[in-house]
Amino acid sequence: MSALRLERRIVIISTLFVLVLFGLATLAVSMFHVGLPTCLTDIKPFLKGEVITHSPDHLEVHYVSKMWAFDPEEVVVPAGATVDFYVSARDVTHGLILIGTNMNLMAVPGVVNYARVKFDKPRDYTLLCHEFCGTGHERMAAKVRVVDRATFEAHQQAPKPPKETDPTYKLLDAKDCLTCHSIDGSESIGPTLKGILGRSVKLKSGATVTADEAYLRESIVNPSAQIVDGFDDVMPKAELTDAELRQILDYLKTLK
Ligand code: CUA
Repeated sequence: MSALRLERRIVIISTLFVLVLFGLATLAVSMFHVGLPTCLTDIKPFLKGEVITHSPDHLEVHYVSKMWAFDPEEVVVPAGATVDFYVSARDVTHGLILIGTNMNLMAVPGVVNYARVKFDKPRDYTLLCHEFCGTGHERMAAKVRVVDRATFEAHQQAPKPPKETDPTYKLLDAKDCLTCHSIDGSESIGPTLKGILGRSVKLKSGATVTADEAYLRESIVNPSAQIVDGFDDVMPKAELTDAELRQILDYLKTLK
């Protein structure tokens, strides 16, 4: 066979191969509903997580990724629903993988990424950050709980826990304090706020101090001044008005 004929044959075979691949991709999208992740450049990135229930068959979730949590932390979805996930990042680049589905998106500051997932059966899914994003990366996770219709209706009607309607709780949430500090005693990236007033605190320097109001104020205003033993110096300075600082200090006294 001449070199020219061989070359022509190679070109024809590779063209056919590309066409077959293109056809299979089109088939996957149209017949099997394999969604293609999309970068939406015309949507302004949102700063607050949200779940919008259009109907029990169609939900929309806005995930905000931030060091080191996803907002919302838990999403409840009725089985059979299609969910549109929109993803943005507040600080650095994060990655979202919803294990057990084909949702795998990057969360990049400045843009919104999108993927659609249909959830057929009740099951818990774990959402993980798969892009190294700093000290708390490995703890960055959230949940999607797919439940039956009746459980979903009950969940929709259940009253919100009273703490979430508390104005100071909302302030702490808005200032991202609760990403790293729990109020229920559980360990996180930062020490828990539960029972913090009057607690004896061992510092990285080796000294032990009592968490009085002056200590708490300094730890909020100038977080690097006294680092608690076992934790890292990663807390950013909070931007608070004097009134907000007062409000938070009064609230901390109530977290016995
Ligand atoms: Cu966010 Cu890793």
